[in-house]
Formats: sequence, structure tokens, C-alpha cells
Amino acid sequence: MVVDPLVYVQGDLVPLNTATISVLDHGFLYGDGVFEGISIDAGRIFKLDEHVDRLFRSAAHMRIVPPLSPVEVRAQIVRVVAVNHLHDGYVRPIVTRGTGPMGLGATRGIREGNLVIVPQVRSRLTDEERLDKGLRATVVGVRRTPPECVDPQVKSTSYANQILAKLAQWDAGADVAIMMGTDGLVAECAGENLFIVAQGVLRTPPRHRVLEGITRNTILELYAGDAREDQISLHDMYAADEVFITATLVEVAAITSIDGRTIGSGTAGPITRQLLVRLRTAIAEEGYQVRYETHDSDLASVASR
Ligand SMILES: Cc1ncc(COP(=O)(O)O)c(C=O)c1O
Repeated sequence: MVVDPLVYVQGDLVPLNTATISVLDHGFLYGDGVFEGISIDAGRIFKLDEHVDRLFRSAAHMRIVPPLSPVEVRAQIVRVVAVNHLHDGYVRPIVTRGTGPMGLGATRGIREGNLVIVPQVRSRLTDEERLDKGLRATVVGVRRTPPECVDPQVKSTSYANQILAKLAQWDAGADVAIMMGTDGLVAECAGENLFIVAQGVLRTPPRHRVLEGITRNTILELYAGDAREDQISLHDMYAADEVFITATLVEVAAITSIDGRTIGSGTAGPITRQLLVRLRTAIAEEGYQVRYETHDSDLASVASR
């Protein structure tokens, strides 16, 4: 990755250190925006179309109007990855409601959203951390917003709910915050989906109560055995043979203790390990292959400005 990476801001490529957005942007003022987090591994972008689709589904729910079409947003994501020579990293497209005046009443007058695409070098957990040792989780008091409030399917830039969960997790000295739904059943983590394995059956909470994670859906497809979207109680989770989390940045990571209860043998179980291997194979083989050279002229034209 180049030293001062280039960020896409409303049609321009701008060095990160000088990239700005208006203080009247409604994403900044009200958390009124949607976003995606996309991973690049060895020059391949995993599930690019699925991420762009989810971005547009979130925007449609919020009645936010992206300034570009899905095909154009996809092309700009690839451009940002290529121009920054980002071979292993992360890219975040964000579409906000757009620039106001200030005030909630101004929301309906805003015709078009703002788009920024930010690249980042990514740090991943080591296999020692994610498998051998595993992560310590705590069940936090903050509940996941139910579909009756902000639907968890919307990947909104307002992460207030998840940040409260993270604060409680850090207070408890844990690595991961598990959030229950308002129905008292397991929902998901602050930034990850959750799976349990019991007697060889893989279970994860139903999609209407959690963010429908793209890694989650991939794992459901990759499991050769019985995989179900299912209600999971606290007891089901405490008593599971294996518990693991999934997310684009995390891939798969074992939870080896929850609130002082050891899960399984206290290290990642065989199904968790096997699914991580399968996911990595899919990431290595299926991702969209970026052609970096195609965008070198772009980089040169930004440098000469
Ligand atoms: C609340 C929440 N749940 C789950 C996930 C995992 O989703 P994905 O696998 O698409 O990264 C994320 C990450 O974006 C998240 O923020």
C-alpha cells in the first residue's frame, strides 16, 4: 500500500491526510449513512458483488440515494484498491444521506448521498490467537436492536448500539461482546456473527435478528453437515461443543470461554478449524482478481496534480 493512501471522495481521489467531508454531512450529524467492510487477500476481493448488493439494500431501506449506480460503485472500489496497490487489506465504502442544512427536518430535502471509499492496511488475529488460545467472550447487558427499531439488516453508520456493547466488554476484560436480542435469545456480537456447534449440528441465529453477514452466509454454504438458522438460548451457547464468530476482518475465530465457562476443550474445536480452512480456500480461489497495472495511470495523474 502507498504511504499516504488515496481515498475516493465524491468523484475525486484525495490523499487520506487531506480528505475531508462537510460538517453538515448527515452521516456525521446523525449517523445517517450506510457502509460496507470488504477484504482484499493476495490481490483478490472476496464477495465484492455481495458487498455492493448489501450496501445498496441498506441504502434502499434508509431511502438514501447513492450518487453512483451499483456497477459504478463496484468499479470505484476496485479503483481504490488498485491505485493504492492494496494486495492485503480492507476497503470501506460509505454512503451518507448527503450534505444538509442541519436539522432532522432537512433530511427529506436532501436529494443525493455522499460517497467515500477508504482503504486501510488490515491487521488480522494470528492462528495462535484465534484457534489455539481462542477468544474470551462476555454476554453484555446491552441488547441488539430488534427489527422493530433499526433493523439489524441495515449496515448503518450508527454503531451506537455496538459501541455500548464494546464498552461493556472492555469493562469485563473480555475480547468479544455477545449481545442478546430483546427476546432474550442470542443475537450476535458487536461486529461479528455467532455460531454454535452441538452434536455436529451447526446453528446460527435467524437472519432477521442479526446483520446477515457475508462470512456467515459463506460458512452456512461451506459446512458439509447439518447447518441451521435457529433460535439459540444462553444455555444452548454455554453448553455447546464449539462456539465461533465470523466477520470479514475476523474470518473465523473460536470462542473458548464465555463469562468464565470454558467452551468445549478450551481450544478451537475440529469443526471451527475445518471451516476456517474451507473459508480460506474460498477466499484464495473465488475472489475478484484486481488488475493493478490498469490503474497506474490514475495514480500518475493524481500525483501530477
Ligand atoms: C454487527 C455485525 N454483525 C456481523 C458482521 C459480520 O458481517 P460480514 O461477515 O459481512 O463482515 C459485522 C461486520 O460487518 C457487523 O458489524
